[in-house]
Amino acid sequence: MKVLGIYGSPRRNGNSSILLTEALRGAAVLGATIKTISVAEVDISGCTECGGCDKTGKCIIEDDMQAIYPRLRDANVILLASSIFFYGFPSQLKALIDRSQAEWNRRRISKNPEELKRYDSGKGYLLAVGATRGKNLFEGVKLTAHYFFDALDLSYEGGLFRAKIEEKGDIRNYPEILIEAYEFGKKIVDEPSK
Ligand SMILES: Cc1cc2nc3c(=O)[nH]c(=O)nc-3n(C[C@H](O)[C@H](O)[C@H](O)COP(=O)(O)O)c2cc1C
Repeated sequence: MKVLGIYGSPRRNGNSSILLTEALRGAAVLGATIKTISVAEVDISGCTECGGCDKTGKCIIEDDMQAIYPRLRDANVILLASSIFFYGFPSQLKALIDRSQAEWNRRRISKNPEELKRYDSGKGYLLAVGATRGKNLFEGVKLTAHYFFDALDLSYEGGLFRAKIEEKGDIRNYPEILIEAYEFGKKIVDEPSK
């Protein structure tokens, strides 16, 4: 199984990154092949809604996203990790997600309406960390993750969410969360595929 971890926070080695590293460790222990992308290490500009991908499924913007498209396609499982910024994803990650519109068009073009009801490429999971405790804290990112994975032909299978974590590295003060993330990584590799 090929697992792609996306580090979606621009803060290197921050709370969501620590969680993702633990989850990937768990997945690796069960034999998954692990690849990673970090939004802090790439330069991706926003989608301009130029329509360039509408008929081709290919984005015409030449930047680091071009090397990311095949990596998104290659994964059987994507583990997306992020901080919450204003009840959504950080803009660096949102740019990657918006640019996946090309993948949505690719999927739409290559599948018939019946096939579009299915997700044939694998599964997607979300790990998210926020500082506050509002009851809707993770609702925005859950929806966005769902439709990001939809564009990639992956079913959104839920995730792990932690509120009340703010300072860089604070999550290390909660070893039970790190264990939970490690076990989560194992679980996603163990789950039978549909
Ligand atoms: C620009 C910005 C916006 C934020 N917006 C929210 C928010 O809406 N709700 C919240 O609970 N935390 C918010 N936070 C706090 C982060 O989600 C929190 O510190 C988290 O632990 C950061 O995770 P990271 O270390 O993986 O980046 C925000 C932080 C920044 C810098």
